[in-house]
Amino acid sequence: MDHIVLTGDRPTGPLHLGHYFGSLANRVALQDTYPMYVLIADYQVITDRDRPGEIQRNVTDLLLDYLAVGLDPAKVAIFRHSAIPELNQLMLPFLSLVSVAELSRNPTVKDEIAHSSQQTVNGLMFTYPVHQAADILFCKGTLVPVGRDQLPHVEMTRLVARRFNERYAAVFPVPEAMMGDGPLVKGLDGGKMSKSRGNAIPLSATEDETAALIRKARTDSERLITFDERDRPEVANLLTLAALCLGRPQRELADEIGYGGAAALKRLVTDAVNDFLRPIRRRRREHTAEEAHVALAEGNRRARERAITTLDEVRDAMKF
Ligand code: TRP
Repeated sequence: MDHIVLTGDRPTGPLHLGHYFGSLANRVALQDTYPMYVLIADYQVITDRDRPGEIQRNVTDLLLDYLAVGLDPAKVAIFRHSAIPELNQLMLPFLSLVSVAELSRNPTVKDEIAHSSQQTVNGLMFTYPVHQAADILFCKGTLVPVGRDQLPHVEMTRLVARRFNERYAAVFPVPEAMMGDGPLVKGLDGGKMSKSRGNAIPLSATEDETAALIRKARTDSERLITFDERDRPEVANLLTLAALCLGRPQRELADEIGYGGAAALKRLVTDAVNDFLRPIRRRRREHTAEEAHVALAEGNRRARERAITTLDEVRDAMKF
């Protein structure tokens, strides 16, 4: 199967280990095999906050994170929503293909509303999954490497693609999600790892910042360290983090720590994470913001070309 890979991130802050094991590692592996687009989803930032915040700085940081983990701009088109008018325009016909009820029952949207700091919920919060369908379909993406929380959005995209094809003409492929095959990494408080929830380990944190974050992680008072996801989820999550970084099974690490307690566990996790991230952090320092923005300009150009072609096909299919 010849795939076109599309995925992306909101520029709301630095990427973290949850992103890495959930999606970034897959992207880096796929870039040698398939054409790939990576989206900086700047219009998606204003779903759960009133203002885009430090958007330019966050875009630059995201670009540097991409280069640091090994995405190669010669292979991957890195682009942003706001640079591609034709992608954004696809949202209009797409919105007409889904019902308000379908928009309202998206579990990821519900979860984001629950964690939002806003007093009211804005319209984009309910409709951005359809915008995300435009993100994926503008380039006729077929494979979408994402974390588990994004599955409802990929489902929405499949729905939009099928309905457009039925109603007008067979323009779009029906894409598939691709999840990391490893265990789910949670945040240091046991909830979903998320930059806005303050429980994440950023890829770009210093070694000292990483140590401080892990020191504050929730554990329990049992001295014997065991891997028990059901009854000791926080300890299990720390073991999972170390296991992913070291490429070793959680139980083996737990046995090694034995009666060392939370302190020994946290030391092990800190060393594992810092060793794992050292080459990524080094690569990050080797790139400049200017270089990163040159890569973005080229990616924008390539993505826009693609979006213009697809929007033409869509207008033809709709006989506009
Ligand atoms: N919703 C994704 C996130 O919050 C970002 C995103 C926007 C995305 N458009 C996308 C991911 C298209 C995959 C495909 O991280």
